[in-house]
Amino acid sequence: MENKKDIRILAIESSCDETAAAVVRNGREVLSNVISSQIELHKLYGGVVPEIASRKHIEKINQVIETAFAEADTPLQQIDAIGVTYGPGLVGALLVGVAEAKAIAYAANIPLVGVHHIEGHISANYIEHSDLEPPFPCLVVSGGHTHLVLVEDYGKYRILGKTRDDAAGEAFDKVARAIGLGYPGGPKIDRVAKNGNADAIVFPKAHVADAPYDFSFSGLKSAVLNYLNGCRMKGEEVVQADVAASFQKAVVDVLVEHAMMAVKEYGFDRLAMAGGVASNSALRQAMETACGRRKVKLYYPSPILCTDNAAMIGAAAYYEFCSGARSGLDLNAVPGLKLGER
Ligand code: KG4
Ligand code: ZN
Repeated sequence: MENKKDIRILAIESSCDETAAAVVRNGREVLSNVISSQIELHKLYGGVVPEIASRKHIEKINQVIETAFAEADTPLQQIDAIGVTYGPGLVGALLVGVAEAKAIAYAANIPLVGVHHIEGHISANYIEHSDLEPPFPCLVVSGGHTHLVLVEDYGKYRILGKTRDDAAGEAFDKVARAIGLGYPGGPKIDRVAKNGNADAIVFPKAHVADAPYDFSFSGLKSAVLNYLNGCRMKGEEVVQADVAASFQKAVVDVLVEHAMMAVKEYGFDRLAMAGGVASNSALRQAMETACGRRKVKLYYPSPILCTDNAAMIGAAAYYEFCSGARSGLDLNAVPGLKLGER
């Protein structure tokens, strides 16, 4: 039954290579979640080409939004606010979503709420876990970000640590390319590693001396490249599945260690994960095991809500909207937006 106080948000996400729109009711109920992925297009180039991404967003965005309205059986007149990712991300890609959201907000006289992309990833957890409420620690691992965050309240974040160089997903993508798996690398390494020996090769697990919660993955990536070069020079066969499994283990071990350190130090009995890499099966398994040992409840979204989507932006926008946050029609794309900034 429709509650009079129901808040329906139209959410738009275009920060990278997915053009996405969703209608979300009261922050946690997804009425539609439409994603038009450009992966096939960027595969040809081995990674996301920013200019192509922006052009494709322009071509797709109206159709994606119309489908989101239709699937949610919600006309624009029933929308209470528009949430849109305004950073971080590729500037040209972000601009398409921001311009579209502003145009609709202006034309229909609906409030506009700019959303931080990482806040969206974290909020994806609210959609399928009705019992999850702040405070909790969250490991955000995506193609562009690796953050360990304390979610102190809705919209209130404290960053405990982040990567000093490559993001976890970026490392997956680069290593996948080096071993001939192609783009996007994360899901492919995940699949191939299932047939490999994770202890076949010992890759380094970087720790940052003065910042125990920070991450560094560029040394690991170099170690994999050196290993591959060494094999080539010695004429030794590279066992793709073993490299994939050993590399994946090195990443997963560090992610689990850091997350468990936070849980212990801050005394939490729950932990959340978010972002594309949170759908990695080895990470889920290892984190489940570590959490099980400490009686910590682990939350993560379904794979479709881990990678970029607009439903997560709708969840984040709802809590921002309820706290009174509104963006003006001068809202701009901020490619380097920091978490916690508005
Ligand atoms: O969250 P996301 O869609 O985009 C960003 O905000 O960056 O994350 C995409 C990243 C890519 O690097 C992709 O390779 C990685 O998530 N990824 C995975 C898996 N699925 C996606 N990494 C490891 N294992 C997976 N199953
Ligand atoms: Zn993302």
